[in-house]
Amino acid sequence: MKVLSIATRKGGVGKSTWTIYCATMLFHISFKKGLKVALVDFDDQKSIANQREKELKRKSVAKGLADIYPDDYKQRLSSMYPIYSFTYKEYLKKYKALNENFQFVFLDFPGRVEKEQVSVLETIDKVAVPIVADELDIESGMSYMKMCADLGIYAGWFLNKERNTNFTKMVKQQAHEKYFLKVNDKIEKIVNKEDGLLSIVERPETYRSNRSTIIPFDDKEKNISHLLKFLIN
Ligand SMILES: Nc1ncnc2c1ncn2[C@@H]1O[C@H](COP(=O)(O)OP(=O)(O)OP(=O)(O)O)[C@@H](O)[C@H]1O
Ligand SMILES: [Mg+2]
Repeated sequence: MKVLSIATRKGGVGKSTWTIYCATMLFHISFKKGLKVALVDFDDQKSIANQREKELKRKSVAKGLADIYPDDYKQRLSSMYPIYSFTYKEYLKKYKALNENFQFVFLDFPGRVEKEQVSVLETIDKVAVPIVADELDIESGMSYMKMCADLGIYAGWFLNKERNTNFTKMVKQQAHEKYFLKVNDKIEKIVNKEDGLLSIVERPETYRSNRSTIIPFDDKEKNISHLLKFLIN
């Protein structure tokens, strides 16, 4: 089992959005190969788990899936990757069972780090740190990257919610060497083949219309698929 996470200390930077994207895409991409994916939601508001429950009651969801996978949407729906709402303690208790049943488990954390999180963080194989280009976020990103280095977790970073500002330009051109490598000498810059650093400007169109944990995001979003590639390779 590989344990993966899109995480940082800051709230509202896109952790849950891109975790749902990666888990949903990976489930659909690997469905025929039979690889098993799960998502663990540690947020006590259970927002992802609740979203899944609501979706399963909606008829439009089955129809949306049937439009994309007319031949096997029923099988996909009935074996849809699970979303578990666990406390840190529950996760650690269930770790062995997860390890036996899944090839990929995504962990979605709330935007804060608490003491009891450490043993959970230690189970992670790879983490992608989203950076939104404003100063405070660089600082919280750096402290998170340093923590990953201290815990021996392999980490990479990418830019989310890109805006056309000078600060964003500086982050794109200099932050890796000037800030991030200094706190974590193994930190990877997650790249998009065409032009360097993976930098996400908007949410995929399909996410904006569905916010779905079931229907895959638009697979024309090749840019974003580099995030998933970083995590699973
Ligand atoms: N690239 C983007 N462009 C525009 N909006 C985005 C982008 N990425 C995420 N968002 C939006 O930003 C908001 C916060 O995203 P999300 O809930 O994924 O953050 P989070 O880090 O999980 O927050 P929290 O710490 O509260 O759990 C959401 O409304 C989401 O749709
Ligand atoms: Mg979240």
